[in-house]
Amino acid sequence: MKCLVLGGGGFIGSHICDHLVAAGHEVRVFEKVGLSKANVLHLHEKIEWMEGDFLNPDCLRGAVKDAEIIFHLISATIPRDSNDNPVYDITSNIIPTLHLLEAARSAGVRKIILSSSGGTVYGIPRKIPISEEHPTEPICSYGIHKLMIEKYLFLYHKLYGLDFAVMRISNPYGERQRQTGNQGVVPIFLSKVMHGETIEIWGDGSVVRDYLHISDVARAAVMMTEARLPKKILNIGSGIGMSLNALLAEIQKVTGLAPNVRYTSCRPFDVPANILDIALARDTLGWGPRVDLTDGLRATMEYLRNIGKDPAVS
Ligand SMILES: NC(=O)c1ccc[n+]([C@@H]2O[C@H](COP(=O)([O-])OP(=O)(O)OC[C@H]3O[C@@H](n4cnc5c(N)ncnc54)[C@H](O)[C@@H]3O)[C@@H](O)[C@H]2O)c1
Repeated sequence: MKCLVLGGGGFIGSHICDHLVAAGHEVRVFEKVGLSKANVLHLHEKIEWMEGDFLNPDCLRGAVKDAEIIFHLISATIPRDSNDNPVYDITSNIIPTLHLLEAARSAGVRKIILSSSGGTVYGIPRKIPISEEHPTEPICSYGIHKLMIEKYLFLYHKLYGLDFAVMRISNPYGERQRQTGNQGVVPIFLSKVMHGETIEIWGDGSVVRDYLHISDVARAAVMMTEARLPKKILNIGSGIGMSLNALLAEIQKVTGLAPNVRYTSCRPFDVPANILDIALARDTLGWGPRVDLTDGLRATMEYLRNIGKDPAVS
């Protein structure tokens, strides 16, 4: 199939490109003007690279031409900064997504697959593990915008028959995730441990998250292209909870190096625990995680060793 990957040069998108190419699909990546192609350089003869701005409806119309499946992986904000300017969060994520949906229905696109957020749409959990039926009460604007996009996908499906699928992803980690990013503790912690630097933890380290290796996320995304799902919104996680302190202990085991940790005050938008119930994805998509945390950490460590230290790591 002809697949358009919006944000295909980024962390999650580049892994989805790998899996799409391996499965024999045609891939067009839509990316920011001038973004480094490093994450997909190995695919350069196998994919089409198109540059433009997601916020520009003309660029989007050009990108969706001839596409059958669209992976929507662009977000102008992250959970941490989204509450600083909710107006920007909505205008830079929702309005361009509506232009995308309009362009997609005009172009006769079959399906849109959204990278939503299992870590933020539910808010503070009332029950663990969190199923897709759990109330949605985000405590950051980012979670609200992801939910809003899910609702518009539902609306365009009802109105125009544009099919969709949503991945509510937990905490993806792995190769090509930035060591300097504001999202994704695994490469940040690994890199600091490998370079003998101090890790700052907001809170006492008891915050529990559900870490999923990126290859499992990409495999789920590609399985969604052809799946006929009775329910279109699926949690994509490991289903296993791990505290930050337990993650550090696992990192120590894998690297053989003891982390230096400084604990500081916790952040208001961090939910205390997030573990996804992945039964629906197992039962209806036939998907489940394959890479356990130890193997995933080893692969990420090898990747970080090979690329060397990011100069922006403080
Ligand atoms: N990483 C996570 O922890 C996580 C968890 C759940 C959901 N998500 C969602 O998954 C998606 C991908 O996340 P990621 O971690 O791969 O992020 P990323 O930043 O690595 O990739 C996103 C890509 O989008 C591109 N992009 C951003 N703005 C653009 C614009 N205006 N025009 C064209 N391209 C633009 C960027 O250049 C980047 O390569 C996002 O929507 C994110 O909200 C991420």
